[in-house]
Amino acid sequence: MKKVLYAGAFDPITKGHMDIIERASKLGDQLIVCVMGNRSKNHFFTFEERSDMIKKCTSHLPNVEVDFFEGLLADYVNMHQIDAVVRGLRATTDFEYEIQMAQMNARLYDKGAETIFLMTTPTYSFVSSSIIKEVFSLNGDIEGLVPDLVLEELKRKYNR
Ligand code: COA
Repeated sequence: MKKVLYAGAFDPITKGHMDIIERASKLGDQLIVCVMGNRSKNHFFTFEERSDMIKKCTSHLPNVEVDFFEGLLADYVNMHQIDAVVRGLRATTDFEYEIQMAQMNARLYDKGAETIFLMTTPTYSFVSSSIIKEVFSLNGDIEGLVPDLVLEELKRKYNR
């Protein structure tokens, strides 16, 4: 069984992430979407809230599983015998950071997992979780850029 991993902070999940998830789910038998990072880092949504939103947003994709993990991405890959790690590329500015991370991770993988880059659909190439939170916090319109339930969660957090 071919296992693919898509990891990120997903604070919160956006339509840009959904685009990558839907496409990545066709690349292997199982796609694990993993909320990764440091619990002590200042995130707007908790680990649990973020993974819960992803679970609801991906419920129509039968081969997608949601997990969360604190630690090295490479440790997760080795522990779960992941075959490939998917990353989304939005612009050339993403590339330098991504290649550095992919090459460092490649040294740490036990069984030579591959990194696969998917080009983000242009509709969402300017989207990031931070820009979504900033625009929303200042009453800007983010409709269409995040799944509806994420918009509802943002409204709930901001008591709107
Ligand atoms: N659509 C919309 N937004 C996207 C996107 C897409 N297709 N792809 C990336 N983004 C956004 C993310 O939301 C994020 O926004 P933010 O910075 O405003 O939160 C930003 O672009 C950067 O994304 P990404 O590079 O995926 O960062 P991340 O913080 O979501 O996840 C980890 C990074 C968790 C994968 C990485 O830090 C990691 O591997 N951590 C584990 C520790 C480790 O192994 N470190 C050593 C690595 S060599």
